[in-house]
Amino acid sequence: MIANFVNREQQALARHLRHSIPQGIIPLQHAMERGWRKAARHGDWPRWAQAIKQLPHGQGHVLDASNDIVCLGHAHPDQDLIRRQLLELHPWRKGPFRLFGVHIDTEWRSDMKWRRLHADLPELRGCTVLDIGCGSGYHLWRMHACGATAIGIDPTPLFAAQFMACKRATPEAGVFYLPIGIEQFPDLASAFDAVFSMGVLYHRKSPIDHLEHLRALLKPGGYAFLETLIVEDCEDRCLVPVGRYAKMRNVWFIPSPSVVETWLARTGFDEIRCLDITPTTSDEQRRTAWMRFESLSDFLDPDNPQRTIEGYPAPVRAIWRARRCR
Ligand SMILES: C[S@@+](CC[C@H](N)C(=O)[O-])C[C@H]1O[C@@H](n2cnc3c(N)ncnc32)[C@H](O)[C@@H]1O
Repeated sequence: MIANFVNREQQALARHLRHSIPQGIIPLQHAMERGWRKAARHGDWPRWAQAIKQLPHGQGHVLDASNDIVCLGHAHPDQDLIRRQLLELHPWRKGPFRLFGVHIDTEWRSDMKWRRLHADLPELRGCTVLDIGCGSGYHLWRMHACGATAIGIDPTPLFAAQFMACKRATPEAGVFYLPIGIEQFPDLASAFDAVFSMGVLYHRKSPIDHLEHLRALLKPGGYAFLETLIVEDCEDRCLVPVGRYAKMRNVWFIPSPSVVETWLARTGFDEIRCLDITPTTSDEQRRTAWMRFESLSDFLDPDNPQRTIEGYPAPVRAIWRARRCR
């Protein structure tokens, strides 16, 4: 199944990029193949693949990603069957989706993040965009609904399997997924009209290298959308957690807004604009039937929800739009 899927995706990718990034087709096809083959070596892959195989294929290409719930595929008459297969891909973190008629109420209301930046998107019609750390790919579909060819990368095999389930409903869509990390992404200088890095910066050991990488991938004049955890502080300050932050092991730097803006300016961006600062609440991140593990309320101090369980400031996230200097 994986070989056929990758083959179809590679061909579709070539069709979609032949005018916009012709030089990127071969390197992206190779990275795509390597990424999917690696994802398919995950111990749970046979179970996930078996579940995906039970889903309808194609079937009328229903795709409506212009609203909060991304709807993919016709409603299937046997909703219980579809729900059972999709639950094999638990935990569903980023969404919400309606897939073959089944509503996937994910841990995160990713539509809330999209709403915070939507009004500040540049014209995306005919553009090629990259979403680094795209999770299940929820925002890729929203970008596609704005007219873009959307490419997402994420190294977590389960999220790739979730994307594969989504793509089954709309195999022809110009939405592509490479199960790789940013460090494995091919060297495609000045290729993308817009690059999104949302929820990734604080996982990087070298945030400045990450911003330089975003800049290099953008066309001159293209826009980066950067979303990160921040500390609300007017000073130039950066929290480096000792050990875990909100039970996450891999959080390195949580900057104040002014630090983010200095980093962006020093890595070659201008028109730097903070679009939003919002504390994360359980309206946006919570346990659901589709994500039964711990969620936000378990990561906060039960006696003081302004603090994480480790005693750090509770999660606040901010979004910037910044232009690559020409
Ligand atoms: C907090 S989630 C953000 C998901 C999505 N971008 C959003 O904003 O809702 C971070 C994502 O980054 C992915 N990730 C972790 N390390 C990465 C890397 N080296 N390159 C790209 N993505 C990475 C994780 O697998 C995870 O899906």
